[in-house]
Amino acid sequence: MTAESYDVERIRSHFPALREGAAHFDGPGGSQTPEVVARAVADTLTAAIANRGTVTPAERRADAVVVEARAAVGDLLAVDPRGVVFGRSATELTFHLARTLAKGWGPGDEVVVSRLDHDANVRPWVIAAEAVGATVRWAEFDPATGEFAPEAVESVVSDHTRLVAVTAASNLIGTRPDLPAIAAVAHDHGALLWVDGVHATAHVLTDVPASGADFWVCSPYKFLGPHHGVLAARPELLESLHPDKLLPSSDAVPERFELGTLPYELLAGTTAAIDFLADLAAPQSDSRRDRLAASFAALEEHEDALLVTLEERLRAIPGLTAYSLAKRRTPTLLVTVEGHDPQDLRAGLAERGVNAPAGHFYAWECSHHLGLGATGGLRMGLAPYTNASDIDRLARGLEEICGSSS
Ligand SMILES: Cc1ncc(COP(=O)(O)O)c(C=O)c1O
Repeated sequence: MTAESYDVERIRSHFPALREGAAHFDGPGGSQTPEVVARAVADTLTAAIANRGTVTPAERRADAVVVEARAAVGDLLAVDPRGVVFGRSATELTFHLARTLAKGWGPGDEVVVSRLDHDANVRPWVIAAEAVGATVRWAEFDPATGEFAPEAVESVVSDHTRLVAVTAASNLIGTRPDLPAIAAVAHDHGALLWVDGVHATAHVLTDVPASGADFWVCSPYKFLGPHHGVLAARPELLESLHPDKLLPSSDAVPERFELGTLPYELLAGTTAAIDFLADLAAPQSDSRRDRLAASFAALEEHEDALLVTLEERLRAIPGLTAYSLAKRRTPTLLVTVEGHDPQDLRAGLAERGVNAPAGHFYAWECSHHLGLGATGGLRMGLAPYTNASDIDRLARGLEEICGSSS
C-alpha cells in the first residue's frame, strides 16, 4: 500500500468539526470525530434498544452492538475478542485492574512503573502497591535523548517483580519503547507486562501478542471514536482474576470486569471508528485486519512526511528546544521557546486558528524528569486529518509569535 492512496482531503471531508476552520494539533488529547461515528452513536441511541438478551429485537440489537465492538477491537489490536473489556476510560480500567491484581500481592512483592508514562499508568499501581505493602520501583528514561531503554527496566526488575507497567508511546514526547525487549525482561522474571497503548494505538498498527504485552489499554476517543476505555488481555489470564463485582452480574469473561450497563451507543461508535480507520487508504480486502494494516502503513507514511516538514521549520525558530527526540516515536512534538511561556504560545496560536495546547498533559513524572515541572511545554500532535496547510499555519504562527518570520 503506497502513500498515493492516502487522500487526506477525502479523509478531511468526513469531519464536520474541521469546517469550523481551525488547524487541529490537539489530537493527543482527543481526536476529532468523523460523521459516520457520530451517526452510529445516534442511530444506536434512537433505535429500539434494551439490556443485552435474545428475546426481543431490542435485546438482540444491544447484544449485537457489544459482539461487533469486541470483534472490531479484536481486529484493531490483533487480540481475541473474548478478552476485550469495555470501561469508562483507560484510567478507570487501570485502577480497576490494579486493585484486582493487587489482591494477590503483599509485602516483598514489587511493581515497576516508568517516568515516561502518563499518570494513568503510574498512580493506579503506586496506590494499589501501597495499599498492600508492596514496593514500587521506577524505570527512568534519558531526558537528554527521550530514549527509554529496556535496560531501564532490567535494572529495577527482580524475581520479586509482579508487574511492569510501561507505555507503548509517550503522550508528551512520543517515545515508543521497545516493548518486545521489555516484555522479555519482565517475563524472564515471572512478571506481567501492562502496556498503556492509549497514545500509540492512534498512530501505529497495534499487534498486542507481538508486543509481548499481557494487558493493553487504549481509548477510542484518541483514534476518531467516542469517549470510553478498552482493555485487552488473553481470556485465560482474565479467567484467573477476580475483580470486585455485583453478586448477580455475570461472572463470565470479559463481562466479569465490566461494571454496570455498557454504553451501547459508544461501542457502536467505536466499531464505526475502527471501520473508518480500516478505510483510511481505501484498501481492498475482505479482512478488516488487513485493511487496518494497509491503512496504518499509509497513515504512518503520511504523518512522518508532515512531521519532517514541521520539524525543519521549527528548527529555524530561535530559542526553541525540542524534547521529542527518540528514534522511534509518534508524530507528537513537545517544545519550549526561550522567553515565551508555553501558555502564551498556545494563546498566540489560538488567535491564529491553530489549536495546540500547552502543559504536562498528566505525564506528570515525565514532565518533571524533563525539567519542565508542572509547566510542561507546547504540544503539537498530528492526526489522520492533518494536512500540509495545517503544518504551514502552525509553523507560520510560531514564527510570527517568536519573531522569526521574514
Ligand atoms: C498515554 C495516555 N495514557 C492514558 C490516558 C488516559 O486515558 P483516559 O482518558 O481514557 O483515561 C491518556 C489521555 O490523555 C494518555 O494520553
